[in-house]
Amino acid sequence: MIEKTFAMVKPDGVSRGLVGRVVQRFEDRGIKIVAMKMMRIPRELAERHYEEHKGKAFFDDLLSYITSGPAVCMVLEGENCVATARAMMGKTNPQDAASGTIRGDFGQVTGRNIIHGSDSSESAKREIKLFFNDYELQKHEVADEAWLFEK
Ligand code: RTP
Ligand code: MG
Repeated sequence: MIEKTFAMVKPDGVSRGLVGRVVQRFEDRGIKIVAMKMMRIPRELAERHYEEHKGKAFFDDLLSYITSGPAVCMVLEGENCVATARAMMGKTNPQDAASGTIRGDFGQVTGRNIIHGSDSSESAKREIKLFFNDYELQKHEVADEAWLFEK
């Protein structure tokens, strides 16, 4: 099933110049970028985005981290895209993330793990709405679509 997910290169990934390489991985996989913008996430938005973690010991550090500089937010679209994008990111702790995943190739510690991805289709829908307006989501065909999918 073709579905959308929300992904974000976190401020460490932006500052370390990893945006291009991260986006390249999705494009190489045939995952379509249907929205993308750089923003410094306001604290209030960060709190809503990570509301499931409110009250946990790492919540304040997480908010400081995620609001510390610009992030690159995007909406990705592809077959089973929520799970595929998460698999490409790797386990939350880069020490546990397999080589070949974004966190496994570029990260050191959980608190600086480069990228966020929605963990379910419900989360994806909620997060896309939080970060993007409908008019920011593009419906477009990419050139290799005819060969990425069976007609
Ligand atoms: P994300 O939401 O950012 O995609 O990460 P995730 O699903 O893999 O992990 P989650 O449990 O949702 O945690 C959200 C982010 O909080 C930071 N964290 N720090 N110090 C800690 O124990 C700890 N645990 C989580 C990480 O930045 C994690 O990605
Ligand atoms: Mg999460």
